[in-house]
Amino acid sequence: TYLGLDLGTSSLKALLINEDQAVIGSVSVPLTVERPHFGWSEQCPANWIVACEAALQELHNKHPRAFAAIDGIGLSGHMHGATVLSEDGTVLRPCILWNDTRSHAEAKALDDAESRAITGNIVFPGFTAPKLAWMRENEPELFAKTRLVLLPKDYLRLWLTGEAVSEMSDAAGTAWLDTGKRDWSTRMLERTGLTIGHMPRLVEGTEASGELRDILANKFGLKRGIVVAGGGGDNAASACGVGVSQPGTGFLSLGTSGVLFTAVAGYDPVPDTALHTFCHAIPGLWHQMGVTLSAAGCMEWLSKLLKEEPGDLTGALGEAISEPGRLMFLPYLSGERTPHNDADIRGVLAGIESDTSREATTRAVLEGVAYSMRDCLDAAGDQPKPQRLIAVGAGSRSTYWLQLMATVLETEIALPQAGDFGAAFGAARLGITAATGADPKSVITAPPIARTFEPVADKIDAYREGHQRYKALYPAVKAAMA
Ligand code: XUL
Repeated sequence: TYLGLDLGTSSLKALLINEDQAVIGSVSVPLTVERPHFGWSEQCPANWIVACEAALQELHNKHPRAFAAIDGIGLSGHMHGATVLSEDGTVLRPCILWNDTRSHAEAKALDDAESRAITGNIVFPGFTAPKLAWMRENEPELFAKTRLVLLPKDYLRLWLTGEAVSEMSDAAGTAWLDTGKRDWSTRMLERTGLTIGHMPRLVEGTEASGELRDILANKFGLKRGIVVAGGGGDNAASACGVGVSQPGTGFLSLGTSGVLFTAVAGYDPVPDTALHTFCHAIPGLWHQMGVTLSAAGCMEWLSKLLKEEPGDLTGALGEAISEPGRLMFLPYLSGERTPHNDADIRGVLAGIESDTSREATTRAVLEGVAYSMRDCLDAAGDQPKPQRLIAVGAGSRSTYWLQLMATVLETEIALPQAGDFGAAFGAARLGITAATGADPKSVITAPPIARTFEPVADKIDAYREGHQRYKALYPAVKAAMA
């Protein structure tokens, strides 16, 4: 059997699968986030270990035989966090997380033509390098003691295997990686006062990174020498979970935030539109990713406001999509990443009339999010678009929304059959490739599909026009909201 561990922001999930990739069971242990100051977001790495031990213990209790038969482990985790360690391996301060915005000034200072040429991305405040630049400025004594910087899941790996190792997909979110060369950039490290010596060794996500320590194997009654795979950042691991392992395939995640992820064969970054270009967890592949900060999150907001479940609101619209409405919605409830990279902008509902109904408002919200995902698709410029997107996340439960997405994105959308195809499952699959040496493409396959949605041909033009009106709204309100 194989184990996937996904260190999420709000919980750590452990999932066990058999040789045929059937899920045997999973457990989740909650984690909390500390927000000691405005814009700060931190977690104590010691709590990740406590959560991981609890998850392993619970999985062991629930499925003793399958657990004892584990042959490989894969890791996934929230990206960009800075875990800083001293010479003797002591954690020097709480991990500064991906959604911490304290280092926006440092990010701005690092983001220039040189950084974009090396890393292929804008240096976002959430990325790791500006966090270390912030420490250098604000916590110089801790910065001076720092000998090793690890991403969150790589700290878990250090505990599991005793080895300081990262892999390409997560490393690409630090702003220290030469993303095209798949290697650390001494120049970007130098710009934050660091050297290669501060970085872990790099492997590919599908490769072995180390073996489970004997002391843990004994403690949990596991075999000796279990291989731990490189694994992936949560988005690359999710892609492995839904089988996005071939160039031109992708997924559309409608969770609290929205992600449009495409696997690409070559390194061809487009940083200026706030598109992310990261390495995939599979060798020889990269991925491009547009992020909309509020997707299903917008329906959660509307649901709270109208005191009706999101499923009832979208259910009331039926299945067949109508023409775009006059009411317009900008989904920037907590700012926007792609394409505006604007932390200050907020949402807009424009064109309200005296008889604007609950249904019209629901439709406007669904349309606004769909247009914002279209912006993520367009952010890749004239590069080839994915032929098909696999839909995941809470929002994919609405058939109206998926039909609308297919039409607005002008791309086929495939909804998998019910099942657990998330980041923990993707991590477990990477555990298989690392432990067995199997070809990633034979392991990381697409899930069985329940239903596919094609664009509604006679509505494509109307939604293209709707998208143009939507795009005109942002610059019009930007000044008023500043
Ligand atoms: C990716 C990103 C998030 C985090 C947390 O750029 O910021 O997806 O990985 O889940």
